Amino acid sequence: MRPLVLAGRDSLTGQIGRAFRTGPRDPWFTTVLVGDRGVGKTAVLDAVEKSARESGWAVIHEQAVEKEGLLALLLKDLVKEAGSLWTRTKKTLANFDIEASLGTNVGVASAGIKIKSKPAARVPTEITRDILRVVGVHAKQQGRGVLLTIDEVQSWTAEGELNALAAALQIVTKREQLPVAVIFAGLPVSLEIMSGAGTFFERVTNSTVEDLPRESTEYAFLKTAEKRGVLIEPEALEVLVEGTSGYPYLIQLAGYHAWPPVGSPRVITADLARDGVSRARQEMDKLYSGRWEKCSPMEQAYLWAVAEVGESATAKDIAATLKRSTEQLGPTRHALIHEHHVLDAAGYGKVVFSLPGFSAWIRSRDPVEIPEYHPRRC
Ligand SMILES: Nc1ncnc2c1ncn2[C@@H]1O[C@H](COP(=O)(O)OP(=O)(O)O)[C@@H](O)[C@H]1O
Ligand SMILES: [Mg+2]
Repeated sequence: MRPLVLAGRDSLTGQIGRAFRTGPRDPWFTTVLVGDRGVGKTAVLDAVEKSARESGWAVIHEQAVEKEGLLALLLKDLVKEAGSLWTRTKKTLANFDIEASLGTNVGVASAGIKIKSKPAARVPTEITRDILRVVGVHAKQQGRGVLLTIDEVQSWTAEGELNALAAALQIVTKREQLPVAVIFAGLPVSLEIMSGAGTFFERVTNSTVEDLPRESTEYAFLKTAEKRGVLIEPEALEVLVEGTSGYPYLIQLAGYHAWPPVGSPRVITADLARDGVSRARQEMDKLYSGRWEKCSPMEQAYLWAVAEVGESATAKDIAATLKRSTEQLGPTRHALIHEHHVLDAAGYGKVVFSLPGFSAWIRSRDPVEIPEYHPRRC
């Protein structure tokens, strides 16, 4: 849900906004926002998109989905957006046959259009570059720009697509200096995925979105309440701030559950706040147990070991705790990072939890049984 008040992100959105005004030579023109689940990356994207739109930019937002291609959709949405905003580009853009070029049939069946069985006529980089160029040139002439935001980038693993985008951006934004800005957002593992997709991404600015500091947490509660004509008693504010420790997802949940019921005074009392925090925590617990249930016994044992050893857990420490070799645990570790997305590789063989509070939840449970080792079945 879009927050009513985006607290504590002014310097980040300001930085990006300035880059849009400066143009492609600003290092923040292409940015990757990384951070744990629920810290507010998508909320920042929303705010940045809104202000770009208000400046007359063509804006498209995409979200990667595990095991699905995104490039054809991205190009189609861009063609549609630019065509509706700038009718002069419509004709030129209509000449691009995205599906034929990418060898995909996105939406063809549902749209009832004749299925094209031609093999990919051009490499994905070329059509991506050409479309970005047409739109970019027009935007530049108009004194405007183009913004692509790509969310959940850690899931964009479709073969070669990210590379194609990187190669196209290298030409269009770096060499030709056209105003095509891109903001990516995802879990920290996104950086690894992106740096594997070409040198262009190795040089883009990355910024970590973190929990909110105390003042911003207070501001988020007070300002949101004020906008809706609700008062928060000082003790209640303390309970809410302490109980949510700056984690935006929890702030949103606790605020929701602490809200005064219809017909009662428009005041959040300390009792309502305590109840709100406790209900929000219960919801978090449900979320954790949902994640937990999706993991196999070995994956659960691995998570338990990471929680036991603590945030600095290296693959070696975990292997020692589970009495296995790091090689035997390789597939488990990989699945937890790349499929379940509950752990994140933190460098030097270390892993950390990507879901705040999950570690404490695991530690509050009974220790898990470590499954026996069956080499053949692994
Ligand atoms: N800066 C903020 N101030 C207040 N609430 C926020 C802020 N950022 C995010 N939220 C709220 O926190 C929740 C999680 O934010 P979201 O952007 O979806 O996180 P992410 O994309 O990092 O997983 C949402 O309900 C959102 O409305
Ligand atoms: Mg998000």
